[in-house]
Amino acid sequence: MNVLTNPSPSDTFPINGTDHLELYVGNAKQSAMYYMAALGFELVAYCGPETGIYDRVSYVLQQNKVRIVLTASLQPDTEIARHVSLHGDGVKVLALLVDDAGQAWRLAVDRGAESAFEPVRMKDAHGEVTLAAIKTYGDTIHTFVERNNYNGPFLPGFEARKSTFPSRSVGLKYVDHCVGNVELGAMNKWVKFYQDVMGFKLLITFDDKDISTEYTALMSKVVSNGNGYIKFPINEPAKGKKRSQIDEYLDFYKGAGVQHIAVATDDIIATVGQMRENGVDFLRVPETYYEDVPTRVGEINENLDDIKRLNILVDRDEDGYLLQIFTKPIQDRPTVFFEIIQRNGATSFGKGNFKALFEAIEREQELRGTL
Ligand code: FE2
Repeated sequence: MNVLTNPSPSDTFPINGTDHLELYVGNAKQSAMYYMAALGFELVAYCGPETGIYDRVSYVLQQNKVRIVLTASLQPDTEIARHVSLHGDGVKVLALLVDDAGQAWRLAVDRGAESAFEPVRMKDAHGEVTLAAIKTYGDTIHTFVERNNYNGPFLPGFEARKSTFPSRSVGLKYVDHCVGNVELGAMNKWVKFYQDVMGFKLLITFDDKDISTEYTALMSKVVSNGNGYIKFPINEPAKGKKRSQIDEYLDFYKGAGVQHIAVATDDIIATVGQMRENGVDFLRVPETYYEDVPTRVGEINENLDDIKRLNILVDRDEDGYLLQIFTKPIQDRPTVFFEIIQRNGATSFGKGNFKALFEAIEREQELRGTL
């Protein structure tokens, strides 16, 4: 592992944070129920035929600063329907909040990004929003969202909507990082894209010696924007004895795409306890994982019995420690999953957990016959 310090004093591509993530799914109504019942989100806005949109429906779900949009096609031959047919349910948009979407798009395109759509200004009674988008890996896009003069429930065209389902927050606070899986040999190209186009800095490099098990290996580089709010680790498969989890993802997703969304909590014991009660499945590490935790990690505030009972992973870096856990895939294909993370000072990504984690994934792959 190689940790680099930030060499540049100025931010050449200001981003205020993650605005939302949009997933294209087969059945947004039922997915929305999973996000509410299992993951603790609340329905806040909706668009569809009732709001004058006839080709699709979108449900906007929120929990603290995490905003997820679930969109499904109402017609057979649309971009959304084709996306779902090819990839299964998956993340289409990583939307970034900026002060000037037109300027961000222009700058990105001037620096070599491919446009997904040109700046468009939308208005309704709540004010105005400007959106523009560029393409990133696979069919994924970054939408730049400018909403300083808007106070509606989400975007023009959406209406506020509540559910009669009694959602109960599980304590998810904000998006910590979003990980992309790209094809063999493509990792450096996309790292360079984020550096050249969006002024991101290379934060950490993991090679296949850092991240390998007896069977599979992968390589990963983490890039981060100027203010550090946006972190995008990019993985590519490395050659191992058997098929790596990244290869399995690429096979099922039919190409590059978002692998996992890491969401921060202040109290992982409460969050994961509630999620488990709600029926969320998590990857399991064996009992033996916990044998060396006290020596490897040292003092932590949490009760180790709770950590063990909930099967939470623990790691330490020079700045502090972190607690993390990974859900199983959240749709039929073994592709996208969530990570729940609590950072107690640590700024890294749980390198000490990689081996245990990948062995857990391999046990799942074996059950699917895809190892
Ligand atoms: Fe992660």
